[in-house]
Amino acid sequence: MLLSSIVALIFSSAVVSVSAQSCMRTYTVESGDVCDGISAAQNVSTYQLAVLNPSINAGCTNLMPGQVLCLGTPGDDCNTTYVVEPNDTCDEVAAAHKIDPSLLYHNNPQLDAKCDNMYIGEVLCVAPTGVAPPLPTGSLPATTIPTTALPAKTDIPWCN
Ligand SMILES: *[C@@H]1O[C@H](CO)[C@@H](O)[C@H](O)[C@H]1NC(C)=O
Ligand SMILES: *[C@@H]1O[C@H](CO)[C@@H](O)[C@H](O)[C@H]1NC(C)=O
Ligand SMILES: *[C@@H]1O[C@H](CO)[C@@H](O)[C@H](O)[C@H]1NC(C)=O
Repeated sequence: MLLSSIVALIFSSAVVSVSAQSCMRTYTVESGDVCDGISAAQNVSTYQLAVLNPSINAGCTNLMPGQVLCLGTPGDDCNTTYVVEPNDTCDEVAAAHKIDPSLLYHNNPQLDAKCDNMYIGEVLCVAPTGVAPPLPTGSLPATTIPTTALPAKTDIPWCN
């Protein structure tokens, strides 16, 4: 239930294009890659990967081997990341990285105000400054919540 509402929210996104020339770092997709796996290995947040690569669909099911992804643009490149583990909360993740929760939300604007939609394996920007690329006008990007995503919190209803 919650997941489907998140996906619906995200599907209503506008497409933004990012100039390939502005990429400071790139990654070439290999067979078997998944978005959050790329994010975790390359130190790029789930949000940033989605914003900079609007051709990736909401479920991240359309990656093609050989496709070149943009990982970071000048001035807006968060390369300090953390992979969400079971039972994490936004406050705890922020505290562990010595940042204010408001900065965590600023750099990961796909998180809802209660942190209810943070999922295991999501890659968060935990940089000490505001470095996330800006939100596309009016909407969230197609972040790549996998269909198998599990909520980090155990005390909320999920897919019931
Ligand atoms: C990602 O960050 C970690 C910790 O700072 C670092 O050890 C690793 O080399 C980085 N990986 C890449 C691909 O930049
Ligand atoms: C992260 O980005 C900063 C600022 O762009 C850069 O100085 C630093 O070398 C980067 N670190 C890694 C591990 O890529
Ligand atoms: C998460 O919290 C639940 C309930 O408190 C607990 O049963 C479970 O062992 C915890 N999982 C991890 C990985 O810590």
